[in-house]
This record gives sequence, C-alpha cells and structure tokens, in this order.
Amino acid sequence: MTTTVPDQALSQPTARGSEWWRSAVIYQIYPRSFADGNGDGIGDLPGITAHLDDLARLGVDAVWLSPFMTSPQKDAGYDVADYCDVDPLFGTLADFDEMLAAAHARGIRLIVDLVPNHSSDRHAWFREALAAAPGGAERARYLFRGGRGAHGELPPNNWQSVFGGPAWTRVTEPDGTPGQWYLHLFDASQPDFDWTNAEVRAEFRRILRFWLDRGVDGFRVDVAHGLMKKDGLPDYLPSAKDGSTGGDTGAVPYWGQPEVHDIYREWHDVLAAYDGDRALCAEAWMPSIAETALWVRPGEMNQAFNFGYLMSPWDAAALHDVIDESLHEYGAVGAPSTWVLSNHDVIRHASRLALTADSPQGEGIGPNSPGRPDPVLGLRRARAATTLMLALPGSAYLYQGEELGLPEAIDIPDAARQDPTWFRTNGERYGRDGCRVPLPWVANAPAYGFNITGASWLPQPIEWARLARDVESADPASTLNLYHRLLAERRDRGLGTGALAWVDGYGPDVVAFRNGNVTVAANLGDAPVPVPAGRVILASGPLHEGGIPVDTTVWVATD
Ligand code: GLC
Ligand code: CA
Repeated sequence: MTTTVPDQALSQPTARGSEWWRSAVIYQIYPRSFADGNGDGIGDLPGITAHLDDLARLGVDAVWLSPFMTSPQKDAGYDVADYCDVDPLFGTLADFDEMLAAAHARGIRLIVDLVPNHSSDRHAWFREALAAAPGGAERARYLFRGGRGAHGELPPNNWQSVFGGPAWTRVTEPDGTPGQWYLHLFDASQPDFDWTNAEVRAEFRRILRFWLDRGVDGFRVDVAHGLMKKDGLPDYLPSAKDGSTGGDTGAVPYWGQPEVHDIYREWHDVLAAYDGDRALCAEAWMPSIAETALWVRPGEMNQAFNFGYLMSPWDAAALHDVIDESLHEYGAVGAPSTWVLSNHDVIRHASRLALTADSPQGEGIGPNSPGRPDPVLGLRRARAATTLMLALPGSAYLYQGEELGLPEAIDIPDAARQDPTWFRTNGERYGRDGCRVPLPWVANAPAYGFNITGASWLPQPIEWARLARDVESADPASTLNLYHRLLAERRDRGLGTGALAWVDGYGPDVVAFRNGNVTVAANLGDAPVPVPAGRVILASGPLHEGGIPVDTTVWVATD
C-alpha cells in the first residue's frame, strides 16, 4: 500500500488546540421528537433533561437543539414569534436553564438554533407591520413591496418559496383594501426580515447576547445564506430540480449575497466578547464547498454544515473527492471541515443510501414514491457510511435516532403529515415528516417510551419496536453499540483532531485513508476486498474470511 502524505492544508483544519468545535461530535436534538416529559405527544425540554445521561454515555461532545422558542409551529418552530422565550409546548425558561446546567454538568456543550432570515407572522413586529400604513418604519423591518399589474394584483417579482408556490403574499391594509405584498422565502407564515435595516441588526445582537448570557456555547444559524437579498429584488426562477432548500449555481438573488458576510463579522465580535469559546455554525446551502467555506473565513463563523458530503452518492470516487475537497477548501481558510449524513430536513441516511431513484433533498418519500429503499441494504450502508465519517478529522454532526439505525418513516398517513412542504405542493412533495418521527426508547412501552401516555404527534412505525434503545442496548451487534464504540475509539485515538492521508492500492471501489494510528477502509464495490494489515478494532458489520464484505467499513490499528 502507498500512503500519500497530506499537504499543509489537509493537516491544518483541526490543529489549533482548544477550540472544542474543531473536532466535536455534535448530536442534533429535534425537541418535538426526542422525549416527551408531560405526555402530550410532543417532545419537550424536561424530556431532554431526563435523557442526558444516555447522550453522555453515547459520548457526544455537544448538542445542537433545534428551535424551542415561542412559535405557532407552522414550520415546527422555524417560525419564531418570540426569540427570547421558550414555547409553552416545550417548557419554560427555567426548564431551559435546568437542561443547560444538566448538560454542562455532564461535560456536554449546547448550541441553540437561531432563525434570523424570517420570523413568524405572529411576531410582534410583523403584527405591528400589518397594522401600520405602507412606507412606515414598522414595515421597513420586513420586505414589503407594491405589486405589479395595473392594480398591484401581481406579486412584485417571480420568486418561488422553497416550500412551493409563490414567495409573496398580499396583505389587506388596515382600511380593508388589498394592499402591499411581503416576501417569504419559506411559508407564508414566515415573513423575511429586511437585513439592511439597522433595527433588525441591533435586535439580533440583543438576541445573541440573551442566550450567551444564559450560558449557551453557540448557535446553529438557520438559512445563513439567505439574509441579504439583491438590490431591486430582480426576477429569478430556479430550475425545477433546485426547488427545495438547495441553492443553484449562478447568481441567485436571495442566496449567498456578498453583504451577508458583514452580518457574521458583527456576530463574531459579539461572541468574541464572551469567555469560553462560543461557536457559530452556518446552515448555508451553497452550490459548492468552496462557496460554503466563505462562511468560515477568519472573523466570521466557526463551522458550516457540509451538505456536499451529505449529498454525496454512495460511490467511492465521489466520496473520496468530496472528502478531499472539503479538507482543502475549509483548510484553506483555517477552518475544520464538518461531516454530516442526516438531519431534520433530509431523508434519513439509513434509507437515502439505498434509494434507487433520485430523490432530491426536501422532497421526502412516502407511500407512492418510486424506488422504495431496501431497509437491509440501507442500514448496512448507513453503518458503513457512519463508520467512515467518524474517522474523519474535523467535527461530525449526528441526528437523533441515527444511532438506532432508524430509517425514514415512509407510510405516514396523509392526514397525519405536518410539513408545510406537503401542504404548499398539494401533496406532490411528501416533505420532511418521515425523518421527524418520535424516537423509540423502550420496545414494550406506550409510544415506545417516548412518553408514558402513548401519544405521538406523528405515528411511529410498528417495525420500530426492534429498534428501540433498550433492545439495542442489550445487543452487542446493534447500531447503538456500534456508535458507542465508534465514539469511544474516535475520542481515545484523537481522530477528530487528526489529519488524513489517503491510502491507495485497494482499487476504485474502496475509500481508504489513515488518520493517526488508524487505517480506515470502506468497501463500496460488489466483491470483498482484503482487510488492511494490523489489528481490526472496529467494523460496521461482520467480516468474512474473504476480507471486508461489500458495504462495510473497518478500522484497523497499527499500534
Ligand atoms: C432551514 C431548516 C428547516 C426550515 C427552514 C426554514 O432549512 O433547517 O427545517 O424549514 O430553514 O426556516
Ligand atoms: Ca410534551
């Protein structure tokens, strides 16, 4: 085997010592589906606090908490009505403080989700805007415009909502006449802020400080590529395949405008005034990794989700290239790469990696989708993919339930669906409910131990009994125990702060590299390949005499 010595960029990303976010394993909690403390069928903050020991045992370094702020829940909390309070559905600020203290007591850091692109239409500012006359300061915090056409009856431009349908809604003025339109890149209940407005900027600095003062370790920033819109709001239509959260190549007038970075330089300084290494992580769906790396230049954010990696097909050459490109592009700006395979917006990777037809992110899969993924193949690939990911230098994000090997829930009845995508496309796109189903904790308990009443805001598939945490805890070969071992070895061997060197010679269907004293080989071909020399410390599935089976990853130690 030949080892390619990494260049400077490859060995840089995790080099700068104590900055925890450079190498952290960060576990995403989607609060409404994690654990339900009061039995109303929706997960809550006390539910999280009660299960922090499970996360500590799993060995995660930090938690990213999806939105729990006051919200009418039109987009599961990504429609915020009060940025500085907890929605009663999830608990109280006191519950939050208790949860944060309990996490810190276990050495788990907490980053919270911040949604700055838009508020809820129930936000006090938007209510004031609707009640005020056009042209006033109240409307200037959002993007109100007059319509086109003789009577303003047409939207100001042709932009489409990420969730489907037009990105503009017309308001009725206080005097009862049809009036201006407001922009919403997402649901009509999510009006976009005007980020050229100084009041908006000051308000968000205040919101950052509110949570930093409470002790949070940072923020995951929602739609971090969308805040600034091109002057004049010129017409733009994405191609059909880019209709969802994804960007598009070329100049999209609402994604990735250069001025957006000024906002994060401001925020960087807000965080820098606090002790203890607080971090900003960007959700920026940009068309290339090089463009995404602009968010993590010095003086801006610390991390950006690696959606290029998430979207990579299960193909050795594609994975090799996206890993290489990630380490180079993030390394070039002095940032760590991040790695992620699942989140609350995409098809769970235990299903996605076995899809036969293209299923773009955000579309979802449901009862009538073509190419229903094979669950056995999907889980085998998911385990192999995660075993590869957790050996990479940098920070890795896990999405709740992937440690159980949960697949996408496909057979959700139409009447139970809640994603605005489903409604705004009249059921054409299933949307994201299938990755948001409440977790199974205990096989023989109501709602699989999600709560004690059996209520669940989305129905849990019956096959999930065998994926419940208690069942998997007791099974040494379970996905849960694989994750436990992966995280323990990753930590003990310092892989998150390591450096990658490619190992050649296994053929085109194998991804192989060294990180410290570990050699990793993932077999994506259709025949077994030899196990690298050394002592096998981990494998994503059973090994055969013939070597590493198809869709399997091994870690081999050379110490
Ligand atoms: C982000 C969130 C997604 C949400 C959207 C609008 O993409 O991850 O869940 O619907 O922003 O806030
Ligand atoms: Ca609850």
